[in-house]
Amino acid sequence: MDRIRIVGGPRLEGVIPISGAKNAALPLMIASLLTRETLTLENLPRLADVRLLLRILGNHGVDHTIAGKRPGELATSGQTLHLHARDIVDTTAPYELVSRMRASFWVLAPLLARMGEAKVSLPGGCAIGTRPVDLLLMALEQLGAKIDIEAGYVIASAPKGLVGGVIDFPKVTVGGTHTALMAAALARGHTTIRNAAREPEIVDLADCLIKMGARIEGAGTSTIEIEGVTSLGGARHAVLPDRIEAGTYAMAVAMTGGDVMLQGARPELLQSALDVLEHTGARITTTNEGIRVARNGGGIAPVDVATAPFPAFPTDLQAQFMALMTRAGGVSRITETIFENRFMHVSELARFGAKIHLEHDTAVITGVPNLKGAPVMATDLRASVSLVIAALAAEGETIVHRVYHLDRGFEQLEQKLGACGAIVERLSAPD
Ligand code: UD1
Repeated sequence: MDRIRIVGGPRLEGVIPISGAKNAALPLMIASLLTRETLTLENLPRLADVRLLLRILGNHGVDHTIAGKRPGELATSGQTLHLHARDIVDTTAPYELVSRMRASFWVLAPLLARMGEAKVSLPGGCAIGTRPVDLLLMALEQLGAKIDIEAGYVIASAPKGLVGGVIDFPKVTVGGTHTALMAAALARGHTTIRNAAREPEIVDLADCLIKMGARIEGAGTSTIEIEGVTSLGGARHAVLPDRIEAGTYAMAVAMTGGDVMLQGARPELLQSALDVLEHTGARITTTNEGIRVARNGGGIAPVDVATAPFPAFPTDLQAQFMALMTRAGGVSRITETIFENRFMHVSELARFGAKIHLEHDTAVITGVPNLKGAPVMATDLRASVSLVIAALAAEGETIVHRVYHLDRGFEQLEQKLGACGAIVERLSAPD
């Protein structure tokens, strides 16, 4: 199993190109199930989750081709993927595949909407809390689906097709909103989604569905209106830049000090995190090229943060921000309101000498002047990159084990950090 070795100390200086967003790419790829025509996605990140989803989609009958290299293309340029689901050959998504990536559960909605039936294993994915799917199923039931759960599988049917309705989410859910959008796009009649997630990835999916012929208004607000159509066509769509990747590297720079241009990052996608970073003492400027993050001396000021749905501070940056706060000049409190139990990184950060204690849903972090490198273990995607951030500023050597978590969501992490002066290498020897 691969490991990553980091020697902490160097400041980060240079340019980091930001990839297409994993959390936008996955639902966009799944949307290819909704049409017999070709869906072309540009700026697709090269990630393990993308490759796994291609296998899952292939099982349902989706052909794919990845465009070859073009003149002037850099290793960091996104890929162009053509997806073609002419015939759905299988409406079952098996446990062996779905258990490896939670988002693949979302195939349920397009399979059901197009074929009138689907059988999808209950999901696995990151071990951050219980992460139920009750609200996704509720959304489909509101559109007339009959749902049964048998032997770990959701069996959904709507033999006469889905019918528009009102979906009122009691809690903001990204996956629930993706599900509702894809199902309602092909349902008969009008659907209203209330308390919809407003994340940029929702808007990206809605934009792509609209290009495919869907009639959707209000994506990006709490109320989305959809007028169902009988079929959707092909489209070409570029995946939006990854706000979580951009925020992660911004925090890495705030941690080590230095000056980095996050090329292609869009400030409006992560304004809350940028505001928080400015309060910690980082200097943020935005240009046509992207977001520039700098910290030249001056220390790291402690800032309290609570995660919440977009546009508030994202839960997917909580672990990274905690890593930064371990070296702040004082005490900070980080409250996690989205996922219970999303604190697995706390015990690993402690291995660097960080001082953190938990009070229910809040981590209280007392900054220390120096961290010390250590062997640590990645536990989930975002937690693992928080260990990388800590390692970049820790004295001496850190070995991060189980880096397959990182490979799920961070494209060319070692190359991107290495190009900015970090001492980081992948060790392919056995664990
Ligand atoms: C997505 C993101 C993930 C991010 C999360 C919150 C992808 C691939 N993943 O995950 O990176 O951390 O949004 O921004 O885009 N809930 C229920 N019942 C449900 C569904 C959700 O109770 O049926 C709860 C969850 O347990 C959680 C909250 O709702 O407490 C929000 O979860 P949700 O927004 O659905 O997260 P995901 O879509 O799984």
